[in-house]
Amino acid sequence: MSGIIGYIGDTSAVRVILDGLRRLEYRGYDSAGLATVCDGELFVCRQVGTLDQLDEQIRAQAVPGSAGIGHIRWATHGVPAHENTHPHTDAGDRIAVVHNGIVENYAALKKKLSSRGVRFRSETDSEIIAQLIGFYLKRGAETLEHAVHCALMDLKGNYAIAVLDKHNPEKLLAARSGSPMMVGIGEREMFVTSDAPAIIPYTRRVIFLDDYQVAVVGRSGAVITNLSGNVVDRQESVIDWDVTEAQKEGYPYFMLKEIHEQPRMIKKILLLKLDFKRLHLKLEELQAIKQKLSAAHQIIIQACGSSYHAGLIGREIFEYFSGIHTDVEVSSEFRYRDLTAGTDCLVLSISQSGESGDTLAAVRRAKQKGMSTLSLCNVVGSSISRESDSVLYLQAGPEIGVASTKSFTAQLFNLYLIAIFLGMMKRIIKRELKDSLIKELTFIPSLLKKVLGEEPLIEAIAHKYAGYRDIFCVGRGINYPCALEGAHKLREIAGEHASAYPAGELKHGPIALVDETVACVCIAPKSQTYDKMVSTMQKIRARNGRVIAIAGEGDEEIGKYADDVIFVPVVQEIFSPLVVSVALQLFAYHFAVKRGREIDRPKHLAKSVMVE
Ligand code: AGP
Repeated sequence: MSGIIGYIGDTSAVRVILDGLRRLEYRGYDSAGLATVCDGELFVCRQVGTLDQLDEQIRAQAVPGSAGIGHIRWATHGVPAHENTHPHTDAGDRIAVVHNGIVENYAALKKKLSSRGVRFRSETDSEIIAQLIGFYLKRGAETLEHAVHCALMDLKGNYAIAVLDKHNPEKLLAARSGSPMMVGIGEREMFVTSDAPAIIPYTRRVIFLDDYQVAVVGRSGAVITNLSGNVVDRQESVIDWDVTEAQKEGYPYFMLKEIHEQPRMIKKILLLKLDFKRLHLKLEELQAIKQKLSAAHQIIIQACGSSYHAGLIGREIFEYFSGIHTDVEVSSEFRYRDLTAGTDCLVLSISQSGESGDTLAAVRRAKQKGMSTLSLCNVVGSSISRESDSVLYLQAGPEIGVASTKSFTAQLFNLYLIAIFLGMMKRIIKRELKDSLIKELTFIPSLLKKVLGEEPLIEAIAHKYAGYRDIFCVGRGINYPCALEGAHKLREIAGEHASAYPAGELKHGPIALVDETVACVCIAPKSQTYDKMVSTMQKIRARNGRVIAIAGEGDEEIGKYADDVIFVPVVQEIFSPLVVSVALQLFAYHFAVKRGREIDRPKHLAKSVMVE
């Protein structure tokens, strides 16, 4: 789970690569390195620590070359150490390789090559790729391409790689299986990368590689082949992200910037997916699969982490608006389950990155079982979006912060749109109701702005409780998954223990933990279970626990049962997760800042998790 960039053009490769690596910093950050080729020499720089340290090393060494590859590492095999940092080279120091993924059979391959005299220099699984390519070249592979094909055929596991050869300075090779890799097309310059933000300032024209494809990239173009060397035809795509969207624009952290982007983001989604005049949903992607959708008698939503929490909210929304029975599964469990659902089941996969390994594996499994697969992804051209029968893009723009914020809200918003579409299709929602629901959704951007306007108060409350031993988040009905997501954010970003419960469950066990060291965030907008929520708050206070309520504006009673109150705009209960979640994001962010955490680089976490 690292980041890769490669460049070949007319300018200094190190500058482009370093710039690209800075945009990939969120993918991994324990070490970084790059390699260039110039006058038949390979120049390799590797550094444990920050990119600034790598930059210093490069300035001191004056690394030449207009072709190179770079890598930013989040360790999976081998501790962060100089010898484990990419690029890795073969024993003859001819080939340099950067790799993202896990080579599952590296131990066996290493043993085989070691017995033939190849000396390894790292503890990583990645080094084996460089060594294998070098080995095949030495054994007489006719071309670099041929050696790379042979090496890749030996590998088990997943990979995205970029390869540099000092004897072939006019080309870079890139390949993928299970990890993203794309080729960027510029003017007399070409790029390879695992993540579009790395190359957005230079080009938006890309070719996404498919599994087992190899790109041979020169200064003015690329040829894509399969592992047998046969040329395959790949379409060009255009990434419509803005350069500024991948910059902090004055915010101290991407997470805060992305929280604040949400009103603008929802406006953009509305503009793209709604005909304002007729209050009509323009979901062409769903129109195209209308038959499959109307045949669906069951929906299974499958996702991981925050996307799973969005899915839990999605279940409530789907059943409420469309009456279709909906189940929600964690992808890592779903992929191994005995699937009893039939072919009239629609599997909806939710993933910001579109690359989560478990979610992708579950898509494949559902397809094998003959189920229809629809995905809700943010990253255009990602594996899950391409492997599903159809895809609806979130249109959240690039999310750089490791903690999902705007993509979570975009997932919810799109789920409302899909559910209303399904409700109309199943004739459960009549036109007048659809019009009023859509009108309500058009107010969401200004309501989210109001929540953001409460930031100073939310910050003060978060700071007040930042010293507490334990944070509970509790909610009921559609707001229980919001509690799960609130606790998830606190754990990820603040690195503190936080747990979530359905409010009614508290009395069945967790309440035993409540005392004056525990603060409970109680999500209590007006709802059919409002009184029950108030009763839970009283139970917490009776045991000296502290209560932070998230309640609807104008609720004058709630203050009697809470130590602090965060007010959010009043909306129908079904839409309340939109406003509640943004308040919880701000709470987690300021809580973590007070705790002195590295907000955009939470410990042990990476933005997309492709491995099992
Ligand atoms: C959320 O803040 C985390 N980044 C994580 O839980 C994430 O939601 C999960 O890994 C799923 O990622 P995906 O949406 O890219 O599939």
